[in-house]
Amino acid sequence: MILEDTKDNHAKLIAFQIFDAIEAKRQNNEHIILGLATGSTPILLYQELVRLHNEANLSFENVYTFNLDEYYGLNEQHCESYHYFMHHHLFDHIDIPKENIFIPSSEVEPIFLKDYCIGYEKAIQELGGIDIQILGIGRNGHIGFNEPGSSVASITRKVKLHDWTKRDAAPSFGGYDYVPTHAITMGMKTIMSAKQIYLMAFGENKKQAIKQAILGDITDELPASFLQHHDNVTYCVDFNIKN
Ligand code: PGA
Repeated sequence: MILEDTKDNHAKLIAFQIFDAIEAKRQNNEHIILGLATGSTPILLYQELVRLHNEANLSFENVYTFNLDEYYGLNEQHCESYHYFMHHHLFDHIDIPKENIFIPSSEVEPIFLKDYCIGYEKAIQELGGIDIQILGIGRNGHIGFNEPGSSVASITRKVKLHDWTKRDAAPSFGGYDYVPTHAITMGMKTIMSAKQIYLMAFGENKKQAIKQAILGDITDELPASFLQHHDNVTYCVDFNIKN
């Protein structure tokens, strides 16, 4: 489904859907697993979830979260790390138990990486799989850090960042040369296994990528296009997709 609306309305709508899903699980004494994204795109959604926590008693006590990705080799205290981002925008303001938060570690020794990534996949599966996955999209069609060339069968792994990804991150890092070269990301298979997906794409600079993802060929050159094979994706955009 494609929804065209303002960024604010998308954030509110998705936050309400998450609210309802958390509440429904809580009433059955069950937990829910959210797959979370970073970047500028989901910030309004996190603000909205914090507001619902403060003003509508939304509790995250039965919530587990798995983040899509993290820069490899970047100190987790660094202000550009996704650990920092998630705590700053969401986790520090809600009542989620600390032990329910999973973000790929940036600091795993190379020899332990393979086992670490398999462990990340296992943790998701053992808890029952991701119920709701939040996604942004890169200008090159990446989701998570599944850059062009990522296979539909890929799982959590270390990847090399694409030139465009580094260029887009350069201003925040104070220059291209300071952007980490690698990251750990959930794979396409991990993402495709989520039961429900919201993909948000805001701004004209995302239009080309999202149009190709929805209407173009399914190709590993544009990993978001694989979502055409998923039967429960809501594409939330703030422009007219047909223009
Ligand atoms: P952005 O990044 O939300 O900062 O635009 C999205 C992405 O690259 O996946």
